[in-house]
Amino acid sequence: MRKAIVYASVHHRNTEKLAKNIAEECQVDLIDAVKRSDADLSSYDIIGFASGIYFSKFHQSILEFAEKNLPDDKKVFLICTYGGSANYKSIEQTLDKKRSKVIGKFGCKGYDTFGPFKLVGGIAKGHPDEEDIKNAVEFVKVL
Ligand SMILES: Cc1cc2nc3c(=O)[nH]c(=O)nc-3n(C[C@H](O)[C@H](O)[C@H](O)COP(=O)(O)O)c2cc1C
Repeated sequence: MRKAIVYASVHHRNTEKLAKNIAEECQVDLIDAVKRSDADLSSYDIIGFASGIYFSKFHQSILEFAEKNLPDDKKVFLICTYGGSANYKSIEQTLDKKRSKVIGKFGCKGYDTFGPFKLVGGIAKGHPDEEDIKNAVEFVKVL
């Protein structure tokens, strides 16, 4: 069973922290959508999309990557880190067009110093923490 995670992590590398820990524990190939706009995903059985939440959406690079590279009818899972709350709508709109089957979603807090939060030293400090990482690894292991 071949798995890949396509990720974008531009704020504090919160999402990358999850992705890298998952890759260490599970057999998963990582693709950084900020650095690479193309990849052949056809040989993967399950594809994950992981991103911070920016203005209520997955990162633009993920949305564009999925639109361009995700084959139809794939099994997909979603991971996000967020300062306030998870939001999967943006990526799900793209996945709908590709007739993807979403087999799981995982979200956790991620350190956030955007805008006014910077003034108070940021929110969700220390996240993703060890517990978040453990939960994320477990989530992918059982898919
Ligand atoms: C420009 C910007 C916009 C953000 N917008 C949201 C948002 O709408 N909702 C939310 O819960 N968090 C928001 N955040 C916080 C990030 O989702 C959070 O810090 C996330 O863990 C960042 O992931 P990363 O370090 O992998 O990029 C925003 C952060 C930035 C920098």
